[in-house]
Amino acid sequence: MPEQAQPDERALRVEIARLNKVIQALMNRAERNASVQGSDFNLFQTAITLEAQVRRRTEELEAARLENEKITRALRESENHLRLLIENAPVSIHEIGLDGRVISMSRAGLLMHDFKEEGEVRGTSYLDGVSAADRERIAKLLAEACADVASHFEFTASGPRRRIFKSCFVPIKNKQGGVEKLMGITEDITKRHEAEQKVRGYVAELTRTNSELKNLNARLLQVQSQLLQSEKMASIGMLAAGVAHEINNPIGYIKSNMQSLDKYIDDLLGVLNAYEQVEVKLPEHQEVFLELHNLKDRNGYEYEKQDILELLSESRQGLERVTKIVLDLKDFSRVESLDKWGLDDILKGIESTLNVISNELKYCCEVRKEYVPLPPVECVLPLLNQVFMNLLVNASQAIETKGVVTIRTGTAGDNVWIEIADTGKGIPPENLKSIFDPFFTTKPVGKGTGLGLSVSYSIIQQHHGRIEVESTPGTGSIFRVWLPIRQPVGNGVAVDGA
Ligand SMILES: Nc1ncnc2c1ncn2[C@@H]1O[C@H](COP(=O)(O)OP(=O)(O)OP(=O)(O)O)[C@@H](O)[C@H]1O
Ligand SMILES: [Mg+2]
Repeated sequence: MPEQAQPDERALRVEIARLNKVIQALMNRAERNASVQGSDFNLFQTAITLEAQVRRRTEELEAARLENEKITRALRESENHLRLLIENAPVSIHEIGLDGRVISMSRAGLLMHDFKEEGEVRGTSYLDGVSAADRERIAKLLAEACADVASHFEFTASGPRRRIFKSCFVPIKNKQGGVEKLMGITEDITKRHEAEQKVRGYVAELTRTNSELKNLNARLLQVQSQLLQSEKMASIGMLAAGVAHEINNPIGYIKSNMQSLDKYIDDLLGVLNAYEQVEVKLPEHQEVFLELHNLKDRNGYEYEKQDILELLSESRQGLERVTKIVLDLKDFSRVESLDKWGLDDILKGIESTLNVISNELKYCCEVRKEYVPLPPVECVLPLLNQVFMNLLVNASQAIETKGVVTIRTGTAGDNVWIEIADTGKGIPPENLKSIFDPFFTTKPVGKGTGLGLSVSYSIIQQHHGRIEVESTPGTGSIFRVWLPIRQPVGNGVAVDGA
C-alpha cells in the first residue's frame, strides 16, 4: 500500500509545483500588461481557475499525505511487533546467504551458539555451528535449500557441550522467483532428547523386567507342575514301595513253600510210582488192588498226577511274574533316588514302565517293539521312566478302539532316541503349540490333568535333550525323545558322584 500511495503524492507535488509556476508566470504577465484593458479580465479568470485547481490538488495531496502517514505508522508498528517477536522467540530465527554465511540471527540463536552479539556471528559460515560428525550431511541440505529444496533436520552443535538442535532451511525468493537467501528456525532439543532417551531407557528396562517376570512366571508354573507331578510320583512311589514290601513277605514264604512243595510232591510221586511197581508183584492182594484201582479211576488219578506237575509249574511261573512286577514297581518308583544320576539302561527303563502300565495298554493296543540296542545313557532313570509312562499312556489314550503303539529306539552320533508312535486320533495342528503347556488337556475331567507332557518336557530339558512331535489327525502321532549319551560337564554323574 505505501508503495502505491507514494507515486500519487509525488505526482501531486509535481503538478502543484507546475501549477504554481504557471500562476507565477501569469501574474508576471499581468503586471507587465497592466495597461492593456481587454486582456486583464481573461487573465484574471484564468488565475482564479488555476488557484481553485491548486487548492483542490493541495487538499488531495494533504489527504494522501495523511493516509500515507497512517500506513507508515501501521507498518512501523507491525515491523516493531515482528522484531519483538523474533527477538524474544525461544528459538533461533536466522537468515543465511547463498554463500552459506549468516546474515542475521535472533537473540535466542546467539545464546544457543554462545555469541554475545550479532556482530560476532554475522558473516561466519553457518556450518561452523555444526559438529564435525554432522557437517557433511547439513552442508548437503544447505546446498539443496539454495537450490529451492526446503528441509527439516536434527544435528549436534559444535562446541564442548553436547547439544542437539532441531532446525530447518526455508528458501526465500526474490521478485523474479530465484532463491535469494535462506531462513532457518532452530530449536534446542537437548533436554527433550535426553528425556526421550531416559524414557526409552525406562521402556527398555520395563520391557526387560516384564519379560523376566514372564519367564519367572512360566518357570513358576513349570516348577509348580513339576512339584505336583513329583508329589504324585512320590505318593505313587511310596504306595508302590509299600505294596511291594507287603507283597514281598508272602511271596518270600510262598516261594520257599513252593520249593518244599516241589520236593515233597516229587518224593510223593516217587513213593506212588514205587507202589505201582510193587502192585504187579503181589497177585495174592488182588482184591485190595482192585479197590485201589477203582478209587484211582474215580478220582482221575492219572490225570491228577500229570496235572499236579503242570499246576506246580504254572504256579512257579505266576510267582516269577509277581516277583518281577514287585521288582519293576520298586525299580520304577525308586523314590529315594529321584535325583541320582547314573549310567543306565534305557531299554530296561522302558521295559519296567511297560510292565507297570501293561494293564492300561493291553485292552486297547498291541505294543510293538523295534529296539536297537542302546549304550548306557547318563540319566536319572526313574525320571525318564515317568516320561516313557506319560508318552505311552497318552498313546494308548489316543487310540479310541484298537490300535498299535510302536516303540522304536536308535542312536545318532552322541545321542540316542526313543520313539513312541501310535495309530490314535492325532493332534489338531492348532493344539500342537499348546500340548507342552502345563494344564493343557483335551481329556475329560478326571482323566487328564494336562501335566504329563509339560513335566516330561522339563525332565528331558534337565537331561539336555529334546522332544519332537509329528502328528496327523486321524492317522496318529509320533513323539521322539532325544537324549545325549553323556551330560555336559557340570551336570550328571560327575557332579553327583553317583
Ligand atoms: N499321543 C497323543 N495323541 C493325541 N493327542 C495327544 C497325544 N499326546 C498328548 N496329546 C494331547 O496333548 C494333551 C496334553 O497331554 P498331557 O500328557 O500333557 O496331558 P493329559 O494327558 O491330558 O493329562 P495327564 O497326562 O496329566 O494325565 C492331551 O490332553 C492331548 O490332547
Ligand atoms: Mg498325559
